[in-house]
Amino acid sequence: MSSTLAPGALAGRRAVVTGGARGMGRAHGTALTAAGASVVLVDIDGAELEETCTQLRGDGAKVSAVAGDITVRARAEAIIAEAAATLGGLDILVHNAGLMYSLTGLADTDDDDFRRLFAVNVDAPLFLTRAALPLLRASDHARVIFISSQWAQVPDGHSYAYMASKAAQLGLMKTMAKEFAAEQILVNAITPGAVMTRMVPTEYYEAERAAIPIGRLAEPGEIAAVVAFLASDAASFMTGQTVPVNGGACIVGI
Ligand SMILES: NC(=O)c1ccc[n+]([C@@H]2O[C@H](COP(=O)([O-])OP(=O)(O)OC[C@H]3O[C@@H](n4cnc5c(N)ncnc54)[C@H](O)[C@@H]3O)[C@@H](O)[C@H]2O)c1
Repeated sequence: MSSTLAPGALAGRRAVVTGGARGMGRAHGTALTAAGASVVLVDIDGAELEETCTQLRGDGAKVSAVAGDITVRARAEAIIAEAAATLGGLDILVHNAGLMYSLTGLADTDDDDFRRLFAVNVDAPLFLTRAALPLLRASDHARVIFISSQWAQVPDGHSYAYMASKAAQLGLMKTMAKEFAAEQILVNAITPGAVMTRMVPTEYYEAERAAIPIGRLAEPGEIAAVVAFLASDAASFMTGQTVPVNGGACIVGI
């Protein structure tokens, strides 16, 4: 994939992308490296992560892998330290890793599932951002980008664990944006609609398409293009914002 930014727009920038083994995370890594950034991809699935990094490096990307479970605080802190040592610092942190299952009504919402989704979608970004803070403070181009979901804003009437955890990401994002704005650490979120990754089983595609005015699901690269934009100097006056990328599925009025 070629960059949607001017060539070299992210030259010298150092990025960490969680959930980078596949799907959207892989696309964010591709888009950021295409614009000149060096990227560390993080994932719990070490084998798929290595495979992805090998492929991206084959295409000339400056990309490395750090495997691990970001829900374990000590491991999350070590991941940031390892990534920063590899990159020589950190400018861009993309909270992309996520889980979606247990799409049930309230009565069937399982406590363990609820905790597990919060651990990945909410606890991990907290652990990682806190560990990265000194590095982001030392950067002249600090960005934190959350991949939330349209369901954070427009609930589907079930899927409690996923919705509540994706909405909590927006709360984290806004609180961080406010605390760190004066330090020029810019924090934003994207709320994608349905994207063609392994998270959405193909049997749901037809129903999803019918609900999306553009008439199709997104390609992962269409979300990654917005990640690259938010990481770039073009977004230098944006913080605390939620950017919907959903093919018109949620058009929210003022
Ligand atoms: N696919 C969609 O339609 C859609 C829509 C809106 C938002 N999202 C969000 O986009 C993000 C990316 O999702 P995707 O569609 O690419 O899904 P995906 O399942 O293809 O990728 C998610 C990645 O996160 C990794 N991961 C999960 N738990 C982890 C952990 N504890 N530690 C480290 N890595 C872990 C997985 O191994 C996987 O590689 C997620 O946050 C998801 O909630 C997806």
